[in-house]
Amino acid sequence: MRVLGVESSCDETGVALVDADASGVPRLLAHALHSQIDMHQAYGGVVPELASRDHIRRVLPLAQQVLSQAGCALGSVDVIAYTRGPGLAGALLVGSGVACALGAALGKPVLGVHHLEGHLLSPFLASDPPEFPFVALLVSGGHTQLMRVNDVGQYELLGETIDDAAGEAFDKSAKMMGLGYPGGPALARLAEFGDASTFELPRPLLHNGTLDFSFAGLKTAVRTQLLKLGSNVCEQDKAHLAASTQQAIVEVLVKKSMAALKLTGLKRLVVAGGVGANARLREMLNAECAKRQCRVHYPELALCTDNGAMIALAAAMRLQRGIASASRDYAFDVRPRWDLAAA
Ligand code: KG4
Ligand code: ZN
Repeated sequence: MRVLGVESSCDETGVALVDADASGVPRLLAHALHSQIDMHQAYGGVVPELASRDHIRRVLPLAQQVLSQAGCALGSVDVIAYTRGPGLAGALLVGSGVACALGAALGKPVLGVHHLEGHLLSPFLASDPPEFPFVALLVSGGHTQLMRVNDVGQYELLGETIDDAAGEAFDKSAKMMGLGYPGGPALARLAEFGDASTFELPRPLLHNGTLDFSFAGLKTAVRTQLLKLGSNVCEQDKAHLAASTQQAIVEVLVKKSMAALKLTGLKRLVVAGGVGANARLREMLNAECAKRQCRVHYPELALCTDNGAMIALAAAMRLQRGIASASRDYAFDVRPRWDLAAA
């Protein structure tokens, strides 16, 4: 079964083709991605209308690129999967519209996929895929959740952020430091030149006994430090602040992940979403998991941020298990807000 996946929920257009047998982990045949970062950079963040228009321009050429890379004809695709939500409504409509139009033209069924399920399952495309069950730490620009994952579609929420997401904390702090958009990778790069113990920043909800997170206070603390440093803050102090901010975010993510492993008694942690690319997070998780004889799995670096491969994969894994069926009803809708537990 060949599944073509289309991702267009935010500022990346992704298309990919996976091949899946009746069982076993689906294989990635090809994937292509266009990031809109350069376009949005001038505005300091994603401009939804520009994002939608750019998805329209990119999605078909990317699909052609993927098919030619995989050496497959369009007619050999069995199912067309697309991100149904959550995300920007206009951006989602482009991917869903193109996927359903392709399906209708080819007479092939379509399947809408939950974006976060894509992230969550993306480590299955790595060379050393995880096994169920596991604890998942989902850390993206819009979400920070800890889940117990028993199988595809069986997600039990253990804790989540009560305000900003971890990626948002990176992005907002970076913006205040004048590091541009997207801030996460820029802040992480600057942090390499700083000392994380320079500034004392809050670690909210660290010891409150729950697996919930809160990052809004951190943003305020960073702003306060920047005000203290004044307008001509030197590069070295900025690097120290970047390192201290990253450490505060990472420490909370790591401690809560370890608490989730303890609570569930599971020995396997899966990390997914854009912040999963953060080197300091990976370093600390590796060390803490090793201490506890736990395994930790990440997606390939290229598949940490949004991509079409995870959408094709999630669709294929659902179809393999018979927990979703692709449909020839091409009257699509999108779900800009969509709880994963309800997917
Ligand atoms: O999963 P993703 O591509 O999009 C959403 O579904 O939200 O995640 C994007 C987020 C952004 O907040 C970005 O700043 C963050 O992931 N990010 C990072 C790094 N790479 C991406 N944060 C920290 N360190 C990184 N290396
Ligand atoms: Zn995402």
